Amino acid sequence: MKDSQCIKLAELSVVSVDAEQTLPIRHKVLWPDQALDFSKVDGDEDARHFGVALNDDLISVASIFFETNDTARLRKFATLPEFQGQGIGSHLLKHILEDLRSSGCSMLWCDGREAAKAFYQRLGFEASGERFYKKDIAYFKMTKTL
Ligand SMILES: CC(C)(COP(=O)(O)OP(=O)(O)OC[C@H]1O[C@@H](n2cnc3c(N)ncnc32)[C@H](O)[C@@H]1OP(=O)(O)O)[C@@H](O)C(=O)NCCC(=O)NCCS
Repeated sequence: MKDSQCIKLAELSVVSVDAEQTLPIRHKVLWPDQALDFSKVDGDEDARHFGVALNDDLISVASIFFETNDTARLRKFATLPEFQGQGIGSHLLKHILEDLRSSGCSMLWCDGREAAKAFYQRLGFEASGERFYKKDIAYFKMTKTL
């Protein structure tokens, strides 16, 4: 990353987006070797989608799928590679946690990639169960009480 690209979190806005808008980042970051449609999720039309915008361009996205009134699942969380490691994903996830609390949600879980396990743990998620794999990528179930 160039110095001139240094991000100030206070200048970033968290925005509501629709599922289609999340697709390019989902595809590029999570499943670049699969077809674009592989990054779509059943239920996308009913999910709550969030993004972080920099100069009107999305640089990070995450989607929330409500399973019951008080349990939600985080899916397809991704920050563009050139913007990773600067606090943007934490900023987005903290916003989502507040949004869920004010919606009366008490539990958030995700299938977290092992590479992101420490990230989730830093934000209060706990890993449970055995490591499992999707297309050779290792995951743990990660859960946070809100
Ligand atoms: C996981 C992911 C969404 C997090 O988004 P992000 O914008 O990189 O998140 P952050 O910058 O807040 O945190 C990432 C790391 O950078 C560190 N970090 C945060 N701010 C930082 C800063 N200013 N300077 C240096 N490092 C920083 C964090 O401590 C964190 O480290 P950790 O992984 O050891 O916990 C992103 O890294 C990503 O897209 N990864 C690839 C796809 C993926 O694994 N998605 C999750 C699927 S379950």
